[in-house]
Amino acid sequence: MRATIAVLPGDGIGPEVTAQAVAALRAVAARFGHELTLIERVVGQQAILDEGTALSDETFDVCARSDAILFGAIGSLPARFARAGGARPEDALYRLRRGFDLFANIRPVLPLPELAAASPLKADIVAGTDLVFVREMSAGLYYGFSEDTALKPSRITGTGAETVAVDTLRYTRTEIERALRVAFELAARRRGHLTSVDKANVLSSSVLWRRCVEAIAPEYPMVTVEHLLVDACAMKLVQDPSAFDVVVTENLFGDILTDEASVITGSIGMLPSASLGPTRPGSAARSALYEPIHGSAPTIAGQDRANPLGAILSAAMLLRLSLQLPEEASAVEEAVAAVIRSGFRTEDIAEPATTVVGTTEMGELVAAHLTAPAGANLA
Ligand code: IPM
Ligand code: MG
Repeated sequence: MRATIAVLPGDGIGPEVTAQAVAALRAVAARFGHELTLIERVVGQQAILDEGTALSDETFDVCARSDAILFGAIGSLPARFARAGGARPEDALYRLRRGFDLFANIRPVLPLPELAAASPLKADIVAGTDLVFVREMSAGLYYGFSEDTALKPSRITGTGAETVAVDTLRYTRTEIERALRVAFELAARRRGHLTSVDKANVLSSSVLWRRCVEAIAPEYPMVTVEHLLVDACAMKLVQDPSAFDVVVTENLFGDILTDEASVITGSIGMLPSASLGPTRPGSAARSALYEPIHGSAPTIAGQDRANPLGAILSAAMLLRLSLQLPEEASAVEEAVAAVIRSGFRTEDIAEPATTVVGTTEMGELVAAHLTAPAGANLA
């Protein structure tokens, strides 16, 4: 098959990990005879310097014409503290999420058995964990600025002790229901259990969320629904993670809970994600962006220390969900598992008696396994 992928490495460790995800895609394409056109564009801090904006119109158009977007990471420490007015690297992500209406963020948490000891949780608690988050990503507290300011104020006004900050948590029924449907459908294809996470004892938006879950549930009789308050969910995730199948929640809760859940796998560097939009007019395809859930980690950028596996596993999700290549996706996932089984680790998941390698070498090991899966040095 032929496909075009927009590659946006971004800032910090983004370029290093994305290079390894690209190497995995190239190795898969060569092995299975596909023709992938990869178009790389600058986004984030570097784009602000080069092009005056975190994501240029031209880059947006490249993404719009592509079959999928492969994203690295963005953000830099100083910019994060300078919210007011100026361009921020994160604007690139917001523009992509908003522009392509990427409302369903899928974050699987599937720890590799060999990494059980790398997790701060006890091995018997981690064992059997296989859960997926569906994080609503088009609305909620994230979208109070830059647009719709009347409807969703997010601002700091006043001075001194009278300074007031406001953010708005706003959800429409349509926004909630479309995310819920993705989660119900996923649960129906998996083990049939859906946990909906909210704060319905405090927030109106959560009361509406819960009503929407109850309204949709009868359409999916094969799915058992459980409601959990977000604080209780945070606790249960580390007490009994294998009790979860699909977890659906609003934007900020999902942001926080998925970082928490990532440690079950041993490192946030292991977690991939897919951000899906609605199906495109006249086609079954959806706009979609794939990225590791970790950030730009500026303190270790450029040192060949980052774990590229979350980025590589994001490329696997791209193959499966956007290019409909399940065999190729599984080959990438199997290559990652094989390299871990062979004892290679980046420093974030290192344990005694394993071989610590850098970002590039880890990526090369995965690519080598993809090129020659029976490679004697890795078997
Ligand atoms: C994520 C990140 C982003 C978010 C940041 C970089 C804006 O933490 O994708 O989880 O909060 O959504
Ligand atoms: Mg996050």
